Amino acid sequence: MSTSMNSSTDSPTLSGPSRPPLVRIAGVSKSFGDNQVLRDVSLDVAAGEVVVVIGPSGSGKSTLCRCVNRLETVDSGTITIDGVPLPAEGRALAQLRADAGMVFQSFNLFAHLTVLSNVTLGPVKVRGLSRAQAAKRGRELLDRVGLSDKADAYPAELSGGQQQRVAIARALAMDPKVLLCDEPTSALDPEMIQEVLDVLAELAAAGMTMLVVTHEMGFARKAADRVVFMDAGRILETSAPAEFFAAPRTDRAADFLSKILRH
Ligand SMILES: Nc1ncnc2c1ncn2[C@@H]1O[C@H](COP(=O)(O)OP(=O)(O)OP(=O)(O)O)[C@@H](O)[C@H]1O
Ligand SMILES: [Mg+2]
Repeated sequence: MSTSMNSSTDSPTLSGPSRPPLVRIAGVSKSFGDNQVLRDVSLDVAAGEVVVVIGPSGSGKSTLCRCVNRLETVDSGTITIDGVPLPAEGRALAQLRADAGMVFQSFNLFAHLTVLSNVTLGPVKVRGLSRAQAAKRGRELLDRVGLSDKADAYPAELSGGQQQRVAIARALAMDPKVLLCDEPTSALDPEMIQEVLDVLAELAAAGMTMLVVTHEMGFARKAADRVVFMDAGRILETSAPAEFFAAPRTDRAADFLSKILRH
């Protein structure tokens, strides 16, 4: 395997240097037309590690997440999950995509399906579970996100926070190796943000490997092992949260923090 790592992975992860990373992003670049959105991005996420990605609008955070579960292709560099490079397409891709569960800002639930069916669809279609197995597991997961009483409701009957918790249960139903969350609370009314962050923090504490794009600094402080700051397609800093918030190393990060913490 190529190990042309750049300085963004200069220190071993807090989970220990000897374990192979669960997610390895190595020298990834990506352009849309002549707009280069990711510039030689390298980041390792160890099993059980929680990495929070922050950075200004347009810095490439969503694109990075989308590359990890192969909703976008990379132009150069490699991304491996559990040592397996992301395949280009086909059945192997569907399997690997299932290894990286994704939670989006805009929930993306199927409106015509009940909550339980939203959660069981993937496991039946992609993981090959029987309906009964998927329903049993789906109810357990709905219980875990505090929605056991909503299994038969439709998404439109739920609050935004409840819908996002269904989306989290749906992602977990695929037994992903890593959970990618792209601004999971930024479409929510303020009073619903915490219930979603609480669910994510519980997952983090339970050992889920997570890559979370969020500007919720309370969550980053509490749940993250590392904070990654991106700007203009590059990772400028990778730090422990306490260190990052107390003393960001770059002016760009200090400037960004002063803006978001003022809100
Ligand atoms: N499908 C696409 N086609 C063309 N350009 C795109 C596409 N997706 C993203 N971009 C561009 O890539 C750049 C990075 O976008 P990205 O969504 O990754 O940023 P971000 O850090 O997630 O921003 P935000 O905080 O606003 O969500 C932007 O300039 C954006 O316009
Ligand atoms: Mg984004």
